[in-house]
Amino acid sequence: MSQKIRSSEITSEHVYLNRRQFMKTAGILSLGGVVAAACGTSPSAEEAVADVAVAEGDAGAAADAIVDELGRTANTFEEITNYNNYYEFTTDKEDVAQMAANYVTSPWQVEVSGHVNNPGVYGLEDLLTQFDQEERIYRLRCVEAWSMVIPWSGFPLRKLLEKADPTSKAKYVRFETVFDPDNMPGLSSPFYNWPYQEGLRIDEAMHDLTLMATGIYGKELLPQNGAPIRLVVPWKYGFKSIKSIVKIELTEEQPSTLWMTAAPNEYGFYANVNPNVDHPRWSQGSERPIGQFSRIPTLNFNGYEEEVAGLYTGMDLSVNF
Ligand code: MTE
Repeated sequence: MSQKIRSSEITSEHVYLNRRQFMKTAGILSLGGVVAAACGTSPSAEEAVADVAVAEGDAGAAADAIVDELGRTANTFEEITNYNNYYEFTTDKEDVAQMAANYVTSPWQVEVSGHVNNPGVYGLEDLLTQFDQEERIYRLRCVEAWSMVIPWSGFPLRKLLEKADPTSKAKYVRFETVFDPDNMPGLSSPFYNWPYQEGLRIDEAMHDLTLMATGIYGKELLPQNGAPIRLVVPWKYGFKSIKSIVKIELTEEQPSTLWMTAAPNEYGFYANVNPNVDHPRWSQGSERPIGQFSRIPTLNFNGYEEEVAGLYTGMDLSVNF
């Protein structure tokens, strides 16, 4: 596919950060917060979008200076692309990168269907050109109690849904990953109800934090991270952030998901990060940031409480886990 993110010539986060330093100095860096404000979202949503601090001084120092709004430093490109969950390939996190390396993600299409006035099939190039690509630095908290900070690029899912124009019957959004048994050895596992499926309530899907990610560190997504396009819902456990999406369907009923079907007593539909509700087999009170020695406390809604708690007013989140 010819039309890709123009920064694909960038080869490392070093170069990426130096470019950001230049852009920031030149006043042309389009930070997520600025974009969100321009879109007229609530002040709280703006605050949630990660701030970016670029170190002053020599170019070397800038390499570790990308931080989120809580001051957490982003993981390296190396870490983000070599410790992955992608069960369609393998359940071994350290082997995913190698096993997915040759997975072909071009050409690619995403079908938007269901209760919408304007269904459609989008080529990846349409999604990259029709929607402004923004940068978002988000915390990712896996339900397995490890975490990372990842500088994504992409566009809010809301933009695509608005284009599809949901009808009044659209209450949920269902997502599906590509199903390609010839090239994804993990799909032979009988334990899971393939293809990988996920779902959100429509107000969650329309929230400004909900991102369709197409890149990391300004480069196109690699296969292990869900190339060419995946969901990122930063206040929910990582398994909600479904990779390599080919279908988005607006539904009236709550969709079932791969994990709810596999282990309903362990994985719920909402899956909001919640340190007060333990997984039946381990504590969710703390997490292990990849690349660090000590554990840190897990935050309610993964630190995005102010922005998203209002979506769940009146709900018992220990029942709707
Ligand atoms: N999407 C698909 N299709 N298959 C998967 O196995 N794993 C999920 C999520 N999306 C998964 C998926 C889990 S458990 C996590 S923690 C994140 O992807 C990991 O994303 P990363 O590998 O980019 O860090």
